[in-house]
Amino acid sequence: MRLSRYFLPVLKENPAEAQIVSHRLMLRAGMIKQAQAGIYSWLPLGYKVLRNVEAIVHQEQQRAGHIPLLMPTLQSADLWRESGRYDAYGEEMLRITDRQGRDMLYGPTNEELITDIFRSHVSSYKDLPLTLYHIQWKFRDEIRPRFGVMRGREFLMKDGYNFDVDYEAAMRAYDRHMVSYLRTYERMGLKAIPMRADSGPIGGEDTHEFLVLADTGESEVFYDAAITDLTLGDRAVDYDDAAQLRSICEEWTTPYARTDETHDESLFDAIPEDRRKSSRGIEVGQIFYFGTKYSDPLNAAVQTADGGKVPVHMGSHGIGVSRLLGAIIEASHDDKGIIWPEGVTPFHCGIVNLRQGDEAADAECNRIYAALVAAGLEPLYDDTNERAGGKFATMDLIGLPWRITVGPRGLKNGVVELTSRRTGESEELSPEAAVQKVAEIYAPHLAAAAIL
Ligand SMILES: Nc1ncnc2c1ncn2[C@@H]1O[C@H](COP(=O)(O)OP(=O)(O)OP(=O)(O)O)[C@@H](O)[C@H]1O
Ligand SMILES: [Mg+2]
Repeated sequence: MRLSRYFLPVLKENPAEAQIVSHRLMLRAGMIKQAQAGIYSWLPLGYKVLRNVEAIVHQEQQRAGHIPLLMPTLQSADLWRESGRYDAYGEEMLRITDRQGRDMLYGPTNEELITDIFRSHVSSYKDLPLTLYHIQWKFRDEIRPRFGVMRGREFLMKDGYNFDVDYEAAMRAYDRHMVSYLRTYERMGLKAIPMRADSGPIGGEDTHEFLVLADTGESEVFYDAAITDLTLGDRAVDYDDAAQLRSICEEWTTPYARTDETHDESLFDAIPEDRRKSSRGIEVGQIFYFGTKYSDPLNAAVQTADGGKVPVHMGSHGIGVSRLLGAIIEASHDDKGIIWPEGVTPFHCGIVNLRQGDEAADAECNRIYAALVAAGLEPLYDDTNERAGGKFATMDLIGLPWRITVGPRGLKNGVVELTSRRTGESEELSPEAAVQKVAEIYAPHLAAAAIL
């Protein structure tokens, strides 16, 4: 993309309505525009990151064997009456009536709809295990929408539902989700800690929330510092290997980590004092086992091997896709702007031409652009006539992790400058070497996108 042809409405001033840094930077970098309270338009740059985050979620879900589908945003009230939640859900549910007077709602979640799909088509244990998921807009009429995409009213969520024949099988699905979530967040450059949580109105027994530590988080969290050292890294995960999944989950759930709802002072006090931490956290996902809470009232049952019939065991598993953009920025920024992790960056590399119109500089920028594209990367080339300082400020604000700066003076010596947004360090390299280095940095990220 050439900046002269792009739509990047950056703001020079700090928007007064933004109370936290991620909201401020998303507005300033021209990523979102508020349409109504808690409802946003995704401008091109924001939309690109949203799609990147969504793609990682899709890839990691499908790697775990979960199957994508798409359910509608508008749902019939009748199904929710069957589960008893139509009246129970309260004011967060946006209720709508169509021209025939039928009660509808904008889905805040999808347990009823997915259970209806399941019961219409599956009747035998032989079709299990099954996990279906989608990434779809939700609406919750939050009483206090705030912090930009962090607490919206309309927001994008990945919600997945497992269907299993018994408790043991459902717990394998639980473990699969926990591990796939750990991988998902790691690929986004985030440390999200699974914390034992309270099951709340959805009900059920086992549940963990995934929290990104940040001062601006809405949850209060307590944890053993040892948990922040854990990483999956590039270890091979076999999603059919239940023992391996269990051991990974044990690794992550053994150190103490809880939200204020389940916090237990006596357990916490047993941790060595220097490792006892409390802070704030942003909830970026949650996994739930709730057994037959929906399959019982909605009559979703399967035939068992011995000819019996049992209600199916279920769980639901959510990732806050749009909230993640805010969480990533809260975790990765400086006073100049956003610093995108390589896994989600809207463009892989910026190209800054210091002297637009200079024949040699223009030609080299075009060559670098073409070479990056040939390496499977997407550059953003600032080919405008803006002065250098302004170009750097925009690149720093929008946070591309790598920048190649091209100017007539360097070119006389056959070099361009490659700069890391994170460290601010620059090195002079030949244009070919700079492209090569950027391609090598992104190679593992491109490879991670492939699902075997
Ligand atoms: N209003 C919202 N705006 C943006 N993302 C949200 C919102 N509500 C929930 N999410 C995201 O969707 C994920 C799954 O939804 P879930 O039903 O667990 O939310 P929740 O527990 O009600 O969230 P919260 O406690 O933050 O209100 C959450 O972990 C969160 O990341
Ligand atoms: Mg939750």
